Amino acid sequence: MLDKIKSLLEEVDSVKVASSSELESFRLKYLSKKGLITSLFEDFREVSSELKRDVGQKLNELKQKAQDRYNSLKKELESTDESDTENDLTRPAFPYPSGSRHPISLVRKEIIDIFSRIGFTVSEGPEIEDDDHVFTKLNFAPEHPARDMQDTFYIFRNSPEDSNPADILLRTHTSSVQVRVMHNQKPPIRTISPGRVFRNEAISARAHCIFHQIEGLYIDANVSFADLKQTLLFFARELYGKETRIRLRPSYFPFTEPSAEMDVSCTICGGLGCNVCKYTGWLEVLGCGMVHPNVLEACGIDSKKYTGFAFGMGIERAAMLKYQVNDLRLYFENDLRFLDQFKTVL
Ligand code: PHE
Repeated sequence: MLDKIKSLLEEVDSVKVASSSELESFRLKYLSKKGLITSLFEDFREVSSELKRDVGQKLNELKQKAQDRYNSLKKELESTDESDTENDLTRPAFPYPSGSRHPISLVRKEIIDIFSRIGFTVSEGPEIEDDDHVFTKLNFAPEHPARDMQDTFYIFRNSPEDSNPADILLRTHTSSVQVRVMHNQKPPIRTISPGRVFRNEAISARAHCIFHQIEGLYIDANVSFADLKQTLLFFARELYGKETRIRLRPSYFPFTEPSAEMDVSCTICGGLGCNVCKYTGWLEVLGCGMVHPNVLEACGIDSKKYTGFAFGMGIERAAMLKYQVNDLRLYFENDLRFLDQFKTVL
């Protein structure tokens, strides 16, 4: 019996397990009620009295050792790679939080979708531009005060005496893209230009030095102001809801004549008056007008044959009205508490 105990002691010591089922087999084999050690304890009753002391001691030692071995094997198993253990197909996956689209991207896409449905293409151009595309070809006279209307970030500025006065600047509007389109394509032209623009303004809840615009351009024979108005009405109803009304107020831009500013009936109160529309019932959303003949000519389009309309709007502003965001800075801070709120919007 002593020999048997001795060989079991060695056996228990050298056992290795690779999975929890192997560990369980170990327990059943040595430690369970029907296991080897229990049966040795049964045999122990038959051991002669002079040997009982020795054998009993060894037997207890074996039992203790098997239990210790079981505990340490179990611990080892728990700390090793979990993929080694049985595959539990119902175990939940590691929780990766899914991201959300930025509200500016959402509204940009929505506006593009609306104009695509009525045949507008999308055109893009450089953010670093020259004076020619941003101002001169758009009928801004050299010393025209309208150049100051858009506080420009200049990257490179020539002195007035310089023979090559091509100032390099960050575009202040995406009308510059439309200048490029007019140069490169023949009418009919129907395009919108979304993009980032830059103006040297102090950052506040209502103004930022970087923002996004979408500008539209339609040039063909016989394009009229009525076409402009109908296009904008369609757009406003698609973006802000079927009940939306629009109104056009006379305005001024060097590149359009006549020019107008468009308001939509307040998206919050529907026109009754609230603090968002400052109790006027109207919200200003975009600038527009008939393309100035000087602009057409400067871009190589015959102004006797063709007319066109143009419009431009800020995407932040549209998103503010749609999602009731009251501080422009939220769009740029990447605060997840803000961005997470757009998770359910696709
Ligand atoms: N470019 C003008 C702006 O930046 C918007 C505009 C576009 C106005 C086209 C009229 C026509 O504010």
